[in-house]
Amino acid sequence: MFPKWYDKWNRDNPVNIYGPALLIGVIGAAVFTASMLVAFGNPVPTDSLQTGPRGTGMSVPEFEADLAEPDPDIALLLEDPPFVPEPGEPLAGDIYENVQVLGDLTDANFNRLMAAITRWVAPEEGCAYCHGDGGLETYAEDNLYTKVVSRRMIQMTQNINEYWAGHVNANKEVGVTCMTCHRGQNVPSDIWFKMGDVNESAMGWSANQNRVTAQSQATSLPSDALETYLLDGEMIGVHDLASRVEGSPADPGIPAIQNAERTYSLMNYVSNSLGVNCLFCHNSRAFYDGAQVTPQWATETLGIQMVLEMNNDYLVPLRDEYPPERLGPVHQDAPKAGCKTCHKGYQQPLQGTNVIGDWPELATTGAPVYEAAE
Ligand code: HEC
Ligand code: HEC
Ligand code: HEC
Ligand code: HEC
Repeated sequence: MFPKWYDKWNRDNPVNIYGPALLIGVIGAAVFTASMLVAFGNPVPTDSLQTGPRGTGMSVPEFEADLAEPDPDIALLLEDPPFVPEPGEPLAGDIYENVQVLGDLTDANFNRLMAAITRWVAPEEGCAYCHGDGGLETYAEDNLYTKVVSRRMIQMTQNINEYWAGHVNANKEVGVTCMTCHRGQNVPSDIWFKMGDVNESAMGWSANQNRVTAQSQATSLPSDALETYLLDGEMIGVHDLASRVEGSPADPGIPAIQNAERTYSLMNYVSNSLGVNCLFCHNSRAFYDGAQVTPQWATETLGIQMVLEMNNDYLVPLRDEYPPERLGPVHQDAPKAGCKTCHKGYQQPLQGTNVIGDWPELATTGAPVYEAAE
């Protein structure tokens, strides 16, 4: 179909047309994508929360799609306002045989709270989870560990709301109930146990790290940060402007590289627990400087003290109450709580929904204070 001289010329001068065609295709696609982005905007738009003064770059970016989607557990919260007692109404302490903590409640509020506890902790098993199948006349018995543990849980919840209001009501009334941690489950999510050495092929400090675990937040950082800072209560303080050259790492007053690694491990845990980055609390140019932090930094320092008290005064002493399968896999230690047990990846648990408003019984260690509805 072509003249002979053309076919011959073609055979003698082979040209690779695929290379240039691909190049033109790729450039074309890039130009097309860019013009679409300019014309219609970013398909995954982001928003950011400014956390520090202008010019410091302190902000927490988030996808708008994530911001628009509420914590699904909020839908499980029910309004259940208290019954304001009539003067002279008999109290649970007088009516029932073995009420050691909730004695100041009227019968109506006592039953309202029992029903709520069941929804929050044992919706499938019902009252029997703590009281057994024996019928109401056996409800005073303390035979089941679940009931004994619950009594202490009620005291812990009251203590948190009364004495740690600076944390759990930091911005407005939010508070905590059993629901904050349990979310309808017998065993709350995001509890933790001691891990011990995690790396069998190393000894000493290295045995602590270089293995991806939940507690190292899937990094090579140490896996013992939670027990060091949220159970043993060791001081955090690794960053200052003094030279380390003159000190010896053997001096306990000099923070070693290990302390720094452990601090970063904790800080990763904190950030993931709240779904924020480091700039939510710090100006990263000066981690050491308490004058360059946000108010949330102070809320966290209170949170660390609160968690230390929860673990040491309430959760660890319950160890001997639990059946063996509830104890830690390595050290048979009691289950413990951390930031994520309440926060579950949100800046504020249940996105700052007021959960305590309906439950004056859980807001104080003393007799509940009821306010007549306006
Ligand atoms: C998650 C555990 C738990 C569940 C579920 C539970 N309770 Fe209780 N219940 C307790 C605890 C703890 C006490 C003791 C409170 C105290 O000492 O102040 C108690 C005490 C009682 C008492 C007082 C018994 C007595 O004579 O001393 C009654 C009545 C009672 N509960 C009824 C119920 C009913 C009805 C349900 C189901 C709607 C229920 N409870 C579900 C933990 C639970
Ligand atoms: C700060 C978080 C937190 C709050 C608030 C909390 N709990 Fe717990 N609860 C825990 C942890 C941690 C455990 C230990 C988990 C385990 O049993 O393996 C636990 C265990 C329990 C258990 C034992 C469950 C089982 O099957 O082993 C019961 C029952 C219980 N809690 C009831 C309550 C009640 C009732 C309230 C509210 C008055 C409450 N909890 C509030 C953290 C919490
Ligand atoms: C929710 C707030 C918060 C977030 C998020 C946070 N931190 Fe911290 N950070 C603190 C608090 C509070 C302390 C001090 C605790 C204390 O002294 O008891 C601290 C201490 C530190 C220290 C030690 C400072 C010193 O004085 O030696 C370093 C380093 C640090 N954080 C790094 C980080 C990094 C890196 C991230 C991100 C992965 C991060 N932080 C995320 C609140 C936060
Ligand atoms: C017992 C449940 C509980 C535990 C455990 C807990 N928090 Fe909180 N935290 C709350 C509640 C509830 C609020 C909401 C207070 C408000 O907004 O008024 C809150 C608020 C905060 C805030 C302020 C957020 C803001 O938007 O201003 C920070 C920061 C924070 N928590 C950090 C921590 C850290 C870090 C830990 C672990 C050391 C921790 N929390 C453990 C319940 C808890």
